[in-house]
Amino acid sequence: MFTNVEHIGIAVKDIAFSNAIFASLFNQQPYKAEIVASESVMTSFFKIGNTKIELLQATSEHSAIAKFIEKKGEGMHHIAYAVDDIVAEMARLNEEGFVLLSETPKRGADNKLVCFLHPKSTGGVLIELCQEIKEV
Ligand code: CO
Repeated sequence: MFTNVEHIGIAVKDIAFSNAIFASLFNQQPYKAEIVASESVMTSFFKIGNTKIELLQATSEHSAIAKFIEKKGEGMHHIAYAVDDIVAEMARLNEEGFVLLSETPKRGADNKLVCFLHPKSTGGVLIELCQEIKEV
């Protein structure tokens, strides 16, 4: 089940520069910065109520973020929805004909299991499913 919009991802060229702009916009500092080596990105997170804003800067020219900025420039990159059972949602969406970008959930930023849906099956919007990792 989809439960809420968890965060909105924004691709940026220079995360330090963009952190300052968004800090000024929101009147608050990012609460977290994190490198996701597997995706070749640096991220930072702001929190607005229950929704987060994730800034993403590529750390390699092979990163999906570098390719996105090359094609489209900086801007909105993805919408992430929290789901209660990511494996079940992936199976359901695959059955419905959506194009999943990984066969199994991957470890993303902010202590999440994530899976992306290709924008060609979702009206041009890159969608991220995410589920909080509960440490036991
Ligand atoms: Co994200």
